[in-house]
Amino acid sequence: FSAFLTDSFGRQHSYLRISLTERCNLRCQYCMPEEGVPLTPKADLLTTEEILTLARLFVKEGVNKIRLTGGEPLIRPDVVDIVAQLRRLEGLRTIGVTTNGINLARLLPQLQKAGLSAINISLDTLVPAKFEFIVRRKGFYKVMEGIHKAIELGYSPVKVNCVVMRGLNEDELLDFVALTEGLPLDVRFIEYMPFDGNKWNFKKMVSYKEMLDTIRQQWPELERLPEEESSTAKAFRIPGFQGQISFITSMSEHFCGTCNRLRITADGNLKVCLFGNSEVSLRDHLRAGASEQELLRIIGAAVGRKKRQHAGMFNISQMKNRPMILIELFSMFQ
Ligand code: GTP
Ligand code: 5AD
Ligand code: SF4
Repeated sequence: FSAFLTDSFGRQHSYLRISLTERCNLRCQYCMPEEGVPLTPKADLLTTEEILTLARLFVKEGVNKIRLTGGEPLIRPDVVDIVAQLRRLEGLRTIGVTTNGINLARLLPQLQKAGLSAINISLDTLVPAKFEFIVRRKGFYKVMEGIHKAIELGYSPVKVNCVVMRGLNEDELLDFVALTEGLPLDVRFIEYMPFDGNKWNFKKMVSYKEMLDTIRQQWPELERLPEEESSTAKAFRIPGFQGQISFITSMSEHFCGTCNRLRITADGNLKVCLFGNSEVSLRDHLRAGASEQELLRIIGAAVGRKKRQHAGMFNISQMKNRPMILIELFSMFQ
C-alpha cells in the first residue's frame, strides 16, 4: 500500500470522499442555515477533469472506494459522467454516493448504468410534515420514491442515514426499525454532531447507548452483527427482518483508530480528518502544473500530519470548523 496514503499510526487510507458541490436543494437544520452557505465562486471549484485527475492518482496509490458527496452531489449536472469515468479506473472497487434522495429516483437508472455501486440516503423522519420542518423544503415523497427505486434496482443494502435529535425525531426510532422488517434497508442512526452554525447542543444529542436501550425494550432479540473493517457503523438486526439497523457513534465512541478516509472538498482541498481544520489545496498545486510526484509528496505530507483522533467531543463543539456542507456536504453535511 502506498506510503503516501499511510499515516504515522499505520492507517492506510483506501477510502476517498469527494465533494462534488457545496450547493444543496435542501436546508437541513443540522447542516445548513436557512439562507444557505456562502458559495465558492465557480472558477474555484474543481472541474470534472481535475476531479478525475485526482481520483486517478489516489486510485493508483491504493484507494479502492470513492464516495461522492456534497452539498447534494446529485445536483451537479455532470454527475453521471463523473461516475462513468470513475468506473474506468482500474482498482476502484466501489463508487458510492451519499444523497438527500430528492433527485435519486430520476437519476438512478443512468447512474446505475454508469457504474454506481452503493447508495446512502439521508432521511430523518417518516412524517411528511416533520420532514418539511427539518429540511425546510418539500420532498418527502420524492425521497421515499428514491429509496424504493434503489431497492427495485437491486442495491443491497440501501443505507438510510437518520440523524437523531432529541425533541425532534427520537420518538421515531421504533418506526424506523419497523421499516427494516420488510425492506432490505440498513437504517443508520447517527449521533448528532456539532458543526459551525448548526445550533448543536449536548441536550439535543441522543447517545448510542440511549437509542439501543429504547430499541431493546421493544426488541430484546436484537443481535449484533460482525463489523465491516473500518466501518463507521455498529450493525444489529432483528432475527427474521430483511434489513438491519446500525449506529454511527461519532460522538460517544469515535472510530478514529480504524479511520481509512480522506476527503476532497468541492474547492479542491484535501482534508485528512472530518473534524480537522488543516487543509491543503490540491487544486492550486494542480493549476500551478505540479507533477504527479509533487502532488503525491504534498498529499503524503498532509496524511503524515494526521492526528491519532479528533478532539474530544466537548472540544469539538467549540472548534472553528467548516459547516458540514462545506466539507462535503458530509457528504455529509452540508
Ligand atoms: P459507508 O461508506 O457506507 O460506510 O458510509 P459512511 O458512513 O462512510 O458515509 P455517509 O456519507 O453515509 O455518512 C454517514 C455518517 O457517517 C455521517 O453522518 C457522519 O456522521 C459519519 N462519518 C462519515 N465519515 C466520517 C468520518 O470521517 N469521521 C467521522 N467521525 N464520522 C464520519
Ligand atoms: N450530525 C450528524 N450527521 C450529520 N449529517 C449532516 N449533518 C450532520 C450532523 N450535524 C449527515 C447527513 C448525511 C450524512 C452524510 O451526514 O444526514 O446523511
Ligand atoms: Fe440536508 Fe444533506 Fe443538504 Fe445538508 S447537504 S442540507 S444534510 S440534504
